[in-house]
Amino acid sequence: MKPQIQMLDLSAQHRKIQREIDEAIRGVIDTSQFINGTAVDEFARDLATYTGAQQVIPCGNGTDALQISLMAAGLQAGDEVLIPAFTYVAAAEAASLLGLVPVWIDVNADTYNMNVEKIEAAITSRTRAIIPVHLFGQAAEMEAILQIAAKHHLFVIEDAAQSIGASYSFSTGETKQCGTMGDTGCLSFFPSKNLACFGDGGAILTNDSRLAARLKMIASHGQSVKYRHEIIGCNSRLDTLQAAILRVKLRYLNDYNAARRQVAACYHQGLRAYSNFLTLPVEKSHTTHVYHQFTIQVKNGKRDALKVYLQEKGIPSMIYYPLSLPEQPVYANANVNTNTNTSAAAQAIVAKELAASVLSLPIHTEMDDEQLCYIITQIQTFFN
Ligand SMILES: Cc1ncc(COP(=O)(O)O)c(C=O)c1O
Repeated sequence: MKPQIQMLDLSAQHRKIQREIDEAIRGVIDTSQFINGTAVDEFARDLATYTGAQQVIPCGNGTDALQISLMAAGLQAGDEVLIPAFTYVAAAEAASLLGLVPVWIDVNADTYNMNVEKIEAAITSRTRAIIPVHLFGQAAEMEAILQIAAKHHLFVIEDAAQSIGASYSFSTGETKQCGTMGDTGCLSFFPSKNLACFGDGGAILTNDSRLAARLKMIASHGQSVKYRHEIIGCNSRLDTLQAAILRVKLRYLNDYNAARRQVAACYHQGLRAYSNFLTLPVEKSHTTHVYHQFTIQVKNGKRDALKVYLQEKGIPSMIYYPLSLPEQPVYANANVNTNTNTSAAAQAIVAKELAASVLSLPIHTEMDDEQLCYIITQIQTFFN
């Protein structure tokens, strides 16, 4: 019999910790402190301890975390922000909303992360910030990125939405968590993320207390004293209910990431021999991989055929992402938006190739051997 397979199984994950979650939710309801309740500060403290970040500013979602970071960086309209050409749209969108110019940096075909050798050529007199994204659960090459940023005085915003719990090792031997190496680090707790709440949620990490105060003000309508608005801000809060849920789930994050790594290890073992047909994710020695996604590249133009075949066999898969950012209509269509660096877009060749060949396979904390065996066997059968 064919096992039931989903891209992620939140219900099964939830059932295992239901009692603790129910208690946490009841605690919030009992106090009726739905906004800025004690669980928000408690979660911020727990997350600081977990990540090693000195300051944690909870906010509404990961996109807000990016936008608030850019607002705090003190940039001017027209300033340029370096963004990987292959990622989720959020970082570019936040920059565009503020009148900044996204400049695309092509990515490495093996790690899907920003190609550090392409960064300096893209820097101009208007470049002010860089947003490395730790895509699919593995850290970008932060040592080189931080060196280039220091040389060119760039503000560094890590997009760690997909990589909470992954760590990066510097050549000195020092190890830091994703999100704690730049000026700010942005997290998302969207339900599919490795640490997920029951709706939208996000946080900004920083080790700079002055910057933290500014980030907090921006997230709270530009005020640090109630009804005294000193700068333009926004309204971005993590609900107390979500914070209470996240406090419980943070205790399980290491187990969740270990379960994802276990699934990935099975995929690697089962598909290793198929390198003529597939490229498997590459784990770099400088970073741990927390496998937010297990994203393969399908060779010889067979991606879409494999996706259809798997669907017929009851196996879902997803294309993250079907277009590189320079190819997205909002950035590609000059009538809609000319405010991007078109020459850099033309050079984002690897990003475009990836968009045409990537396929993300089911990976979550509740997958069992039967499901995994079935998926691997079906992929093997397709290529055999
Ligand atoms: C890489 C990346 N950045 C940012 C975000 C935005 O996070 P949110 O959906 O919480 O706004 C996401 C979420 O999908 C993401 O995957």
